[in-house]
Amino acid sequence: MSETILILNGPNLNLLGTREPKIYGATTLADIEANCQAHAAEIGVSIDFRQSNIEGELVSWVQQARETASAIIINAAAYTHTSVALHDALKAAGLPVVELHLSNVYKRESFRHKSFISSVADGVMCGFGAHGYVMAIDAAHQIAATRTTKT
Ligand code: DQA
Repeated sequence: MSETILILNGPNLNLLGTREPKIYGATTLADIEANCQAHAAEIGVSIDFRQSNIEGELVSWVQQARETASAIIINAAAYTHTSVALHDALKAAGLPVVELHLSNVYKRESFRHKSFISSVADGVMCGFGAHGYVMAIDAAHQIAATRTTKT
């Protein structure tokens, strides 16, 4: 199977470009996806890039990834700070996980300092804006290459 990295985006990330640009930048989610696809082509991996405002849909996509993906990059957005369901789904998937945020959540409100994703992630990346997605692809690719068994 060729390597596929699933990139999941949570609620309100469909508004990137117009949503609080001082915090999240002016790049749209479509632009981010295009950058991800271009970088993935350069390093020879496939990208499955998705966004949902619905927690259960994200959970279902994580469940399906066990059969279809080699790693998951997840910007769970606000669900990062609330979702036991996503925590459980990521744990059950047994795949490499990179937690990603555009902003440096640790420089922001204290409710953003708690993550239900970090404890089931291989690594966490935040504060690098849209470029963080490209960095996360390299990280996920590297982890997937060194991990051959599901846990
Ligand atoms: C975010 C940070 C979250 O705290 C916030 O709820 C988001 C976006 C980020 O990418 O910086 O929606 O995940």
